[in-house]
Amino acid sequence: MGRDAVATSLPLELGGGLVLKTAQCPADLERIAQLHGLAFDPAAAVATRVLALGYPGLRPQDFSYVEDTATGEVVSSVCLVPTVWRYEGVRLNVGELGIVGTHPDYRRQGLVRAQMRWFDRELEARGCHLASIQGIPFFYRQFGYEYIIPMGHGYELNPERVPEPLEADAASSVRRATEGDMPLLLEYLAAAQASLAVSVERSAETWLYQDDPAREDDEALDTYLTLEAGQPTGYFRVYRREMQEPHRQGVVIVEASPLPYRSSLAALRLAKELAANRRYLKAIRLSLPASSPLMWMAAYLGGRWQQPYAWQVRIPNAVRFLKAIAPVLERRLAGSFLAGYNSFLRIDLYTDTIELGFDRGRLASIRSLGPIESRAVRLPWWAAWQLWLGHRSREELCAWYPDARVEPALQPLIDVLFPKRESWVFPTL
Ligand SMILES: CC(C)(COP(=O)(O)OP(=O)(O)OC[C@H]1O[C@@H](n2cnc3c(N)ncnc32)[C@H](O)[C@@H]1OP(=O)(O)O)[C@@H](O)C(=O)NCCC(=O)NCCS
Repeated sequence: MGRDAVATSLPLELGGGLVLKTAQCPADLERIAQLHGLAFDPAAAVATRVLALGYPGLRPQDFSYVEDTATGEVVSSVCLVPTVWRYEGVRLNVGELGIVGTHPDYRRQGLVRAQMRWFDRELEARGCHLASIQGIPFFYRQFGYEYIIPMGHGYELNPERVPEPLEADAASSVRRATEGDMPLLLEYLAAAQASLAVSVERSAETWLYQDDPAREDDEALDTYLTLEAGQPTGYFRVYRREMQEPHRQGVVIVEASPLPYRSSLAALRLAKELAANRRYLKAIRLSLPASSPLMWMAAYLGGRWQQPYAWQVRIPNAVRFLKAIAPVLERRLAGSFLAGYNSFLRIDLYTDTIELGFDRGRLASIRSLGPIESRAVRLPWWAAWQLWLGHRSREELCAWYPDARVEPALQPLIDVLFPKRESWVFPTL
C-alpha cells in the first residue's frame, strides 16, 4: 500500500520503510511528544505530554503517527481530540485536529496527508458533526477546511489606560477561582454563551484540566472570579504564560462572562498588574466575542482593534450536520412568517445536492441526492458551511462568490433558516 491508500485498518505501510499506526501506550505518546519537540520546539513536547496524559477522555489511540522502521523513530503525528460544540443548544460532536507535526527531514512527503485520511475515517466512525483546527494559515485548506468561527486577537489595550480605582470601586474585588466555584463558573459560562450561535460545551473536568496548577505548558489557563461587596458577579480567564508569538504577548484575556461595569474595571486592573510582569509586551489583549462587555470597556478605554484569526472548520457529512441542527431550523421557521412551510428545499453544493423536506414546518426529511444540478439554490460547499454556521449571510455570500446564487423567491426561506449570528468558541484544549 502506498501513501495515497485509503486503508481500513492500521498499521499501514506507506512505502520507503514508513508505517502509519495509532499510539497504543504511554511509551508511544512519549515518542510522539519527542517528535513534536523537534517539529516545533521543546515547549511542544511539554504541550503534547500535557494533552496526551491529561485531557479528559483522550486515549492513546486518538494519536496517529508515522514510524520510520529503519530507525524506529516517530517522524510525523496528528491527533483527534474529541470536543463538543453547541449550535444554539444542540450538541455537536467535534473532532479537533490536535498537535500536527512532521520531522523536518520528512516534510513534503505526504505524511500528514496520509494521516488526514485516518483522521477523516475516524470522524466518520465517531459520527462527528464537525472537524476543527486552530492551525497555521492556509495549510488545512488543502484538506477541505474553511475559516469560519473567529478566534484570537480582538483588542490590545495599553494598561496605562486602565483607570486607577475610585472610592466607588472599593467594593469590587477579584480572586482566583477554586474547584468549589465550579458550579457557579459553569452557570456563568452558560450566561457568557447565551447569545452565541456556535459555542463550546465544557465539562467541569475539562475546566479543571485547563486550570491545573501543575501545568507548565503554554495553553494553561487561570480563572479569576469577580466580586462586588463579596458576592460573585462573574469570571474571566487568562493564559498563565506569555508566549513570544505576537498574538500571545502580554496578558491575554481569553474568556469572560458578561461582567457588570465595576467588575469589568476590576478585571482590567488585575490584568494591568499581571501585564507589569510580562516580558515581551506589557499590554492587555482581549480575545473575546465582540458582544462581551469587557470588549466594550476595552474599546471605551482606547484599545486598538486587531483583526481576529479564525477556526478552520470542516463539515464531514452535510446530511448528518443538518439533521443534528434540524430542531434549531424548525424553531427558526416556526418563529417567522414562513411558519408552517410545506415544500422541498434543494441546496446544490456543486459536489452534492442536499434536499430538505418540510412538512407543515417540520423537517420531515434531509437527504443527499448526489451531484444532480438544482439551480434554485447553488452554493459552493464551503460557502454553504459559512451560511449554515451563521458566519456569513446569504446576501454576503452571494455578493462575494459569483457561483453562489439563490433564486429571489427562496431568499426569505434561506434567510430565516440561516441568519448571520455571532459565534465564539472559548478554549477547548
Ligand atoms: C506543516 C507540516 C505539519 C506539514 O507536514 P508534511 O508531512 O510536510 O505535510 P504533507 O507532506 O502531508 O503535505 C500535505 C500537502 O501540503 C503541502 N505542504 C506541506 N507543507 C506545507 C506548508 N507549510 N504550507 C503549505 N503547504 C504545505 C504539501 O506540498 C502537500 O501538498 P500535496 O499533497 O498537494 O502535494 C510540517 O511542515 C510541520 O511539522 N511544520 C512545523 C510544525 C507546524 O507548523 N505544524 C502545524 C501546526 S497547526
